[in-house]
Amino acid sequence: MNINVLNKQNSILNNFINEIRDKNIQKDSLRFRTNIERIGQVMAVELSKTLAYTTREVQTPLGVAPVNITDEKIVVASILRAGLPLHNGFLSFFDHAENAFVSAYRKYIDVVNFDIHVEYISAPDIMGKTLIICDPMLATGGSMELSYKALLSHGAPAKLHIASIIASQQAIDFLQKSLPADTTIWVAAIDETLNDHAYIVPGIGDAGDLAFGEKID
Ligand code: PRP
Ligand code: URA
Repeated sequence: MNINVLNKQNSILNNFINEIRDKNIQKDSLRFRTNIERIGQVMAVELSKTLAYTTREVQTPLGVAPVNITDEKIVVASILRAGLPLHNGFLSFFDHAENAFVSAYRKYIDVVNFDIHVEYISAPDIMGKTLIICDPMLATGGSMELSYKALLSHGAPAKLHIASIIASQQAIDFLQKSLPADTTIWVAAIDETLNDHAYIVPGIGDAGDLAFGEKID
């Protein structure tokens, strides 16, 4: 498995991560969604460097120029709800991508224990395509594993990319065992621990609620 951790290199992306983590700035939900979208855009550019390119010629008004372009068939999938702003970031650059959506939510049995439910899926044919699954948080990694398995009902992708913002080390270890060995993971940062509620520490808090407001069970 290939794991790319983008905050290891200094770039403007680190300012966006700072703002989504900051407990005061993150309360501005428009800014929170925008920062997640901007991280998706930066990630899309980094991921695009791994796609297949062919050399073509483009006719300009004054002559012919060589260009290397990609026409890889991409499906951008997101896990509802929190994946949506990250999804939009990828779509800003992958103009012709197809789109898939899966719902995954935690149903708590008590304050500590929960099951993850995947109840909704909307996806095109994924067979042989490049699948990018977006979710800003990988805490236990359970929602990502179940969502990937649900998407397989629409065909096996040729390549799998996981795009996230904050992952726990536990989720990375879990996904290394449960996803195909040639999967590529893109994360902005990896945090060390989970709390008793299986939230990432220091993390950012509840990404879905920060982006779209609190929900009731
Ligand atoms: C969050 C997040 C992931 C999941 C991560 O979704 O967006 O999907 O939790 O946790 P895991 O790695 O332990 O599965 P949540 O269940 O809060 O739903 P929401 O996006 O609707 O708020
Ligand atoms: N879901 C979130 O939104 N944040 C976490 O830290 C864990 C699960």
